[in-house]
Amino acid sequence: MNDLSPLVQEARADFERAGTPADLENAKARYLGKSGRITEHLKGLGALAADDKRSRGALINAAKQQIEAALDARRQALAQAELQAQLQGEALDVSLPGRKRGSGGGLHPISRARERIEAIFGSMGFDVADGPEIETDWYSFTALNNPENHPARSMQDTFYVDVKDASGHWLNLRPHTSPMQIRYAQAHAKKYAGQASMPDIRVIAPGRTYRVDSDATHSPMFHQVEGLWVGENVSFKDLKVMYLAFIQAFFETTELKLRFRPSYFPFTEPSAEIDIMFDGGPLEGRWLEVSGSGQVHPQVIRNMGLDPQRHIGFAFGSGIDRLAVLRYRMSDLRPFFEGDLRFLAQFN
Ligand code: DAH
Repeated sequence: MNDLSPLVQEARADFERAGTPADLENAKARYLGKSGRITEHLKGLGALAADDKRSRGALINAAKQQIEAALDARRQALAQAELQAQLQGEALDVSLPGRKRGSGGGLHPISRARERIEAIFGSMGFDVADGPEIETDWYSFTALNNPENHPARSMQDTFYVDVKDASGHWLNLRPHTSPMQIRYAQAHAKKYAGQASMPDIRVIAPGRTYRVDSDATHSPMFHQVEGLWVGENVSFKDLKVMYLAFIQAFFETTELKLRFRPSYFPFTEPSAEIDIMFDGGPLEGRWLEVSGSGQVHPQVIRNMGLDPQRHIGFAFGSGIDRLAVLRYRMSDLRPFFEGDLRFLAQFN
């Protein structure tokens, strides 16, 4: 009588060699399939006498069970290995550094300049206010003592919006940030109305402004920062001290001079342009205009809802793009607004 244990050994070794579930199923067919080796042994039983059949059958069945057990064990081992590999592939290592985005974005140089301006004035006690870019005629012009026939109102300077306000005037894209003087001061005056005293108004309002103007030093969309300081005892001296401190902080140097050049604005009296001159560097020796300024006109103080007999102060309006051009030593401001990443990436 044949001993079937070598066959069982062989099957076990065969199953061990199967590296994948598919290999294993092929190996199984060689023993337990329709014409597999165990099946062939079983088929051979028919030719035996009844007694032999029983003992031989028991032997074959025992071998079959051992082979099935080995098959089962190998199936489980393969499934386990597969699961392990999958888990390893999907493993999340929280200590790995994050993926970087693109070539690295950054703040636009104009935004950098604006944030710098906000931080400097913030440190001097100025509030930072934001206002509408689509303005009414009253806020852009009338409240600022800008006469009806003033050229700034003309279509050559100001972009108008094809919508009229309640008073029948076309809305405009604000040509300067000065309307924010009125808006902010009105809100402040209202807040302290009826009280014995009012804290000084000290605010800057940076933002986008628009004018029909386009060349190397003018863009139809540009940026200004308005400044306003109104109280009971605020003078031009305060403006000079404060603006010099601002400019020195902005350009990170004390090697520069400030000059007030008499000028005209309807909303200030007296009015002055502020020029700066660097004592060294490539821009040395040239007066550079950076801001308009002046003592707030009594009529404007009135339009703010304040009493010109009691309240006095100064205002200024500086070009943020102009300051950025000087800080980054550029000769043309248009690259700021062309969106060319090769230019913008230099500021990151
Ligand atoms: N709004 C003026 C402009 O756009 C700039 C300006 C001048 C603002 C004098 C002021 C000021 O507040 O006092 O040209």
